Amino acid sequence: MSIIFHESTKVFHLYNKHVSYIMDVLPNGQISQIYYGRKLRDRSDFAHLQDSTCRPCSSWPLPELPNFSLEFTRQDYPGFGTTDFRQPAYEVLQANGSHITDFRYTGHRIYAGKPELPGLPHAYVEQDSEADTLEIDLKDQLTGVEMTLLYTIYNRLNAIARSVRFVNRGAETVKLDRAMSMSVDFPDHNFEWMQFSGAWARERAPKVRPLEMGVTAVESMRGCSSAHQNPFVILKRPETTEGSGEAYGFTFVYSGNFLAMAEVDTYDVTRFSMGINPREFSWKLSPGAEFQAPEVLLTYGNTGLNGLSQTLHTLLRTRVARGPWRDKARPVLLNNWEATGMEFTEEDVLKIARKGAEVGVELFVLDDGWFGKRTEFSGLGDWYADTAKLPGGVKGLADKINALGMKFGIWIEPEMVNEDSDLYRAHPEYALCTPDRRKSLGRNQLVLDFSNPEVVDCIYDQLVKSFDGADISYIKWDMNRSITECYSSHWPADQQGEVYHRYILGVYSLYEKLLAKYPDLLFESCASGGSRFDAGMLYYAPQAWCSDDTDAAERVRIQYGSSYGYPVCSWGAHVSVCPNQQLGRVTPLETRANVAYFGAFGYEMDLNALSDKEIEQVKGQVAFMKAHRELFQFGTFYRIRDPFANDKAAWMVVSQDQREAIVGLYQLMNNVNNGYTQLPLQGLDPKLDYQVDGNEVYGGDELMHYGLMPQDTSSHPMMGLFSPDRKPDITGDYDSHLYHLIAK
Ligand code: GLA
Repeated sequence: MSIIFHESTKVFHLYNKHVSYIMDVLPNGQISQIYYGRKLRDRSDFAHLQDSTCRPCSSWPLPELPNFSLEFTRQDYPGFGTTDFRQPAYEVLQANGSHITDFRYTGHRIYAGKPELPGLPHAYVEQDSEADTLEIDLKDQLTGVEMTLLYTIYNRLNAIARSVRFVNRGAETVKLDRAMSMSVDFPDHNFEWMQFSGAWARERAPKVRPLEMGVTAVESMRGCSSAHQNPFVILKRPETTEGSGEAYGFTFVYSGNFLAMAEVDTYDVTRFSMGINPREFSWKLSPGAEFQAPEVLLTYGNTGLNGLSQTLHTLLRTRVARGPWRDKARPVLLNNWEATGMEFTEEDVLKIARKGAEVGVELFVLDDGWFGKRTEFSGLGDWYADTAKLPGGVKGLADKINALGMKFGIWIEPEMVNEDSDLYRAHPEYALCTPDRRKSLGRNQLVLDFSNPEVVDCIYDQLVKSFDGADISYIKWDMNRSITECYSSHWPADQQGEVYHRYILGVYSLYEKLLAKYPDLLFESCASGGSRFDAGMLYYAPQAWCSDDTDAAERVRIQYGSSYGYPVCSWGAHVSVCPNQQLGRVTPLETRANVAYFGAFGYEMDLNALSDKEIEQVKGQVAFMKAHRELFQFGTFYRIRDPFANDKAAWMVVSQDQREAIVGLYQLMNNVNNGYTQLPLQGLDPKLDYQVDGNEVYGGDELMHYGLMPQDTSSHPMMGLFSPDRKPDITGDYDSHLYHLIAK
């Protein structure tokens, strides 16, 4: 059991080989935060680590303890208004208008395993022996509201899952105005805050800044986790690098509005909290009702950012993602979106698919345009096949694709509706909008009210009707606009604050229903590219379209940024045409593939437009990916050289047994007569010798401690580890090279 409770001191110590998380019960009955970090030996009392010396001008909640103020006490799930002036984790609005509560410890449970969070995505265990759970109960006597703090610590992963549950056991209705999923107080502010920000087509770029007194935050109010800020934050020590040092990760297993916030107070204490964005959130808790907040995964490591990312990759890939595709290498796919847009005939599609079959593609995906009277302005909401395009319906095309020896996949955008659709004409009340006010359009569409189960059922029924009988292996689930005018005609006035969250619960419920009906389906989530790329989605869809930006050079940055929090197999990555459709850049076909191999690989183009020579190249790429995809998708991934800071970028994957590795080197911009590029590799066995690209053999120690020295046009041919007569590995702009290392 990796959770100890010391009865005499009321100390809770959660630990595994690497990490300790320590709390106790404060004099006022609340839960303190004593320590979270590198493993400490257990002892019965850790109170000496909590410096709660009262300072001048303080207030105190207990008359008998004028030295005890919450303002100076580190807490684990703080409230507001009873001497703590910092950001609270929760607020309970009562009938008399007050937010003041007094939650006191009433008991706890410790047990092996991890509970399910009904209706919500969450990390799980396969055996109860993998993790232990602590549930701490607190109660506010006056309202009768109970709060349970949930902590699960994994034994083999440096990960703690946290969430909270509120139950109203009182006689009066209250409202939760804030219910963050977790909060933790660190005793210092010697941290750099690392967030992953961007916009459409430039998602998840790392941004780092030191924490200073005051509030540092990222959030989404778009109804989805968003491309703008990702619900994943790292707090790292300033000296932490990719290869060494402490870092804490916070991953929200949730896909809607969120807030992640660090508040450094004037005594340098850092309070980090994460949860559903309290803006526009309030949840009515009638007597007997319960609210379960979504989960946050806390990861910790002292081996640098690569180590932290690897913990997250394993955790999200094997204990958040589920289903038969979790551990399976992903099919090489071909998607028709960039080839045809919405305008196509079945024959156009089959022509592309035939070429796909010829090069070895395993899965053909029909994107947007196959349903209703679909145009840019119409059709969303009508999930029946447009027989002008698909005369035999979905099944007709699926059969033809299957006959070519490929699996069939299809695109849907189930959360949306166009005003010009049969669904909207029949049910305008199915769209989210404020009564008697203007409705804002995005991409010419409205958002369906997924907080209303009837709407979810209606979409489900339509999809099943269209899909039944067809052999569908994959669904790309898109979501192409942010929510505005978030008002549901299904809910009364005093529950409108629940609609954003209920919407996401509706999205999750449709995923569950479709997975229950088609358990072997591979889902790829998508939201205008990577606008809803989060751990919550990975619970249902083990891969996500990383970005609509398919330019290889841009993708190096986007995938590099994504790698901090998300595993390689979760990034949908496709080779597309040149000039690139998003920014007109021309990159070599080889580089486009060299980038996309690190991901759920595919093509997004009309392969018929390629020359015979290029087709031969593509055949080689598909065969190469099929031969190495386990290594790419499930190997240990290391960031080697940062594309945000260098003209050359590199990353690598190493097999579990360390006998094989592939290093990707990407030249974003060529330079003349530049300094040597040294790539100190990671994760190899220093005792083994590795043959590089079937040529020279080097020690794992040399490759890691001296580094791989790529031969480029500007380095002196006599320098480096390579023989002088070798051809350069990389030459011009956007050139790239994959180094294949095999232990001898
Ligand atoms: C979004 C997706 C694209 C494509 C289009 C279809 O932009 O990100 O991949 O599916 O929608 O409309």
